[in-house]
Amino acid sequence: MTDARAIHLADYQPFSHLIEHVALTFHLSPNATRVQARLAVRPNPAREQGLDLRLDGEGLRLVRLAVDGRELTVQPDETGLTIRAADLPDTAFVLETEVEIAPEGNTALEGLYMSRGMYCTQCEAEGFRKITFYPDRPDVMARFRVRVNGDHPVLLSNGNLVDQGPGWTEWDDPWPKPAYLFALVAGDLRAHSATFRTLSGRDVALNIWVRPGDEGRCAYAMDSLIRSMKWDEQVYGREYDLDIFNIVAVDDFNMGAMENKGLNIFNSKFVLASPETATDDDFARIEAIIAHEYFHNWTGNRITCRDWFQLCLKEGLTVYRDQQFTGDMRSHAVKRIEDVLMLRARQFREDQGPLSHAVRPESYVEINNFYTATIYEKGAEVIGMLRRLVGDDGYARALDLYFDRHDGQAATIEDWLCVFQDATGRDMTQFKRWYSEAGTPRLKVSDDFNNDTYTLHFEQENPATPGQPVKGAKVLPIAVGLLNPNGDEVLPTTVLEMTHMRQSFAFEGLATRPVASVLRGFSAPVVLERAVSAEERAFLLAHDTDPFNKWEAGRALAKDLLARMVTEGAAIGPGWLEAMARVAQDGSLDPAFRALCLRLPSEDDMAQTQHAAGHVPDPAGIYAGRRRMGDALARRLAPDLPGLIASLAEPGPFTPDARAAGRRALRLAALSLLSRVDGGTAARAAYRAADNMTEEVGALSCLLDIGQGAEELARFEARWRSDRNVMDKWFALQIAYAAPDRAAEVTQTLTQHPDFDWKNPNRFRSVIGALSGHHAGFHHSSGAGYALVAEWLLRLDPLNPQTAARMSTAFDTWPRYDADRQAMVREALQRMLATDGLSRDLTEMAVRMLGD
Ligand code: BES
Ligand code: ZN
Repeated sequence: MTDARAIHLADYQPFSHLIEHVALTFHLSPNATRVQARLAVRPNPAREQGLDLRLDGEGLRLVRLAVDGRELTVQPDETGLTIRAADLPDTAFVLETEVEIAPEGNTALEGLYMSRGMYCTQCEAEGFRKITFYPDRPDVMARFRVRVNGDHPVLLSNGNLVDQGPGWTEWDDPWPKPAYLFALVAGDLRAHSATFRTLSGRDVALNIWVRPGDEGRCAYAMDSLIRSMKWDEQVYGREYDLDIFNIVAVDDFNMGAMENKGLNIFNSKFVLASPETATDDDFARIEAIIAHEYFHNWTGNRITCRDWFQLCLKEGLTVYRDQQFTGDMRSHAVKRIEDVLMLRARQFREDQGPLSHAVRPESYVEINNFYTATIYEKGAEVIGMLRRLVGDDGYARALDLYFDRHDGQAATIEDWLCVFQDATGRDMTQFKRWYSEAGTPRLKVSDDFNNDTYTLHFEQENPATPGQPVKGAKVLPIAVGLLNPNGDEVLPTTVLEMTHMRQSFAFEGLATRPVASVLRGFSAPVVLERAVSAEERAFLLAHDTDPFNKWEAGRALAKDLLARMVTEGAAIGPGWLEAMARVAQDGSLDPAFRALCLRLPSEDDMAQTQHAAGHVPDPAGIYAGRRRMGDALARRLAPDLPGLIASLAEPGPFTPDARAAGRRALRLAALSLLSRVDGGTAARAAYRAADNMTEEVGALSCLLDIGQGAEELARFEARWRSDRNVMDKWFALQIAYAAPDRAAEVTQTLTQHPDFDWKNPNRFRSVIGALSGHHAGFHHSSGAGYALVAEWLLRLDPLNPQTAARMSTAFDTWPRYDADRQAMVREALQRMLATDGLSRDLTEMAVRMLGD
């Protein structure tokens, strides 16, 4: 995108000055908060001397500015203020400012804002400039001391509590940090507390701060935090480095959570959990997000990013670490399958459309628009590949070197690759393309067998993406195994290293032609193109020793079938049904794995696959075909379902562990199939008997899926009316299960519900986001889905541009569809661009989605 306001990686320069210390004093008041800042500044020896000092600042009323005690008159502009070099000493000096801000009117939820009477902050990426004048960039690292004056009983900031009195607290953070990690919270809060003893024997006070009444829903988050802290010591040798670690839950939050130093702030839906209010998926997500934000303490905070182009340095690595953690806590097989499902649903989708960008982009207009699936999830995949290429030992040595060499620094991807090069001797030049080149590689595979030699032939294709027409060969770690026709493994998992556009690998000394299991564990984020017969897929589903590829074989069988159903009107033959029946009954397999096998491919995934294969996807056809598959599977499995459900009943009270959750997942998958043949009898009974949210929502979903559940929906609402996080589910479910031609109408009706508080991002997402996630409803031929989502994004944009822009990615798949749908989406995007005062955030998204 060519835009005058674009920021370019190539333009990076160190900041003109260094900030050695920051002292902030807050006097909190909803409409007139005073912020006094005292910065110890000196010229940066790495830059020319005698430069002006430019500070970022937005929406601040400047009250006072002084240099070394001398008052200066400076006129701020739209984005900050400049102090002329002539007004600055050429050695160290003290800069004092005082500004006034109005947190109550802050609906963008960036900077200092209020959420239901409580003050909180969100500074990443560029929110600190809405609090005070400051060089708001991650390579300016300083020690902060903060004094908070306010009426609320709990006043928190980063670091250690050093002093307090009635109406004030004082905090000192000994670790230099960039401004985006600053945080402040004030409210009438209650703590759920614990103590953690670190590896070296220091005691850390842990507190989870919530609204009065929510104290009883913090135990799982606390347990997750303690396990995360232990895990990072054991696996990465990383110890926590302050005397106190605070987590605060807030209801109005644009994202999931934020890793502010010593004071993580969380969307309350990722902290609060009890068996009655949270599903197994909620518990799993809480565990993962608590871990993620905690892990940032080293990967993000102690070592931060030089600039926002390096965002994957902290996010990709921290996602990789939280994925490892969840695998260790739960099941590596199940976690890998779930991660690949997400990767394909979010990142492959992004990478195959107009928003495709590199893991390290070279330019952006609004940085908030670059917290993407590519930065996060492909960023994590790239680290997984690195690890396969250098081995577990090489990875451990590289990470030790990274922490050793870069602690306290703002680092780059070059620094990151350099530690791998230095620790393992491996040249990283070609591998670096994974960071600089966008797009999902396609990997074509063929094979032959001659005498006793089996050969796999690979060819990679790196498709053009916006601004990147031509690319080089990628390094691909391709994990393969070979099976004998009797099911025995003749070659255990071996990593082939592909570095050329075409490459072949031969395996000698084989008595019979083997069956190849290619790309085990999804060892590289590519689209595999390989003609495999249904028989061979069924064979791999039955015999593959690699759990990912075993699941993938069943998935591919289902996708092949669904594709033939929608393009050729194929009937559902016994092959897929029998293969699924065997998996469903196989008591030797983990129930969570069986539940994943029974899940049908999503409609959006099918549309993506069909588009990639050169077809124009038909949303209604995919929807109908997928329902027919579900019905056929239900009929095939019907006799066994009641027995399966009964065998998976959990005696005793609810526990959120992976084993129990896996059993519930399979039980609910079976209940959903049974509902399609028993008219909902079993699901209605299950709803009545449910004593936990997993089963309550699970049974309700079964009923909604077959067009029933009106009475249960009403009961659910009556019971949970006053619980926001639970009511978000109530809103979303009705839309998710609406018939495609009614989805927009159901959504529209729900937007009139008195509890549709659209300024709350969670509620907005659970209604408008549910419609954009309803593939056949959003892409309905009437255009009603597109129109309603566009209308609400335009309404949200002036208040909360960040969330509006993020949710606009609903439209990014438009080039896949037919001319009518394309025209409707283009028209919606153009209407946005024609709107007066459209935010920079949403403008950038609409422009990029429309393409040049
Ligand atoms: N640093 C981010 C939060 C963030 C994102 C702040 C974008 C500002 C703009 C945090 O570490 C994060 O990545 N949170 C994720 C959840 C995580 C488990 C991937 C989120 O909020 O979705
Ligand atoms: Zn993160």
